[in-house]
Amino acid sequence: MPRTLVFLALCALATSTTAAAVSAERQTELRDLVHQDCGACHGMRLTGGLGPALTSQALQGKSHDFLFVTISEGRPGTPMPPWRTQLTEQEINWIVDYLKTPEESP
Ligand code: HEC
Repeated sequence: MPRTLVFLALCALATSTTAAAVSAERQTELRDLVHQDCGACHGMRLTGGLGPALTSQALQGKSHDFLFVTISEGRPGTPMPPWRTQLTEQEINWIVDYLKTPEESP
């Protein structure tokens, strides 16, 4: 499939699902995953490391869909891995909301 089609399909998915679909229990697990697995590269407090900072401030100007695609597909040619095999679309949406919400951000 051409890249643009993949991108558009993902955008449609990103806007058609809601964070509410993720259970409270799973949210706790996702918080741990963000700080441990993502934190391994982005810093335990997500202030940056091998990868850039993922604080709400750092992500302010970046759209939900852009961040969703980055997490889902990774960034080919960089160490940023694709997460779509490990996380559902709802879970990736939840993570994007979590990262972008100032009071939730570490
Ligand atoms: C193996 C290291 C590694 C891991 C693990 C990792 N990342 Fe990344 N990430 C990177 C790198 C390196 C970049 C920068 C890629 C580039 O140069 O464009 C990046 C970029 C990003 C970006 C884009 C930021 C921006 O400002 O454009 C987001 C969002 C992101 N990562 C989220 C995550 C999330 C969420 C996780 C965990 C589910 C995660 N990353 C796990 C290395 C990693």
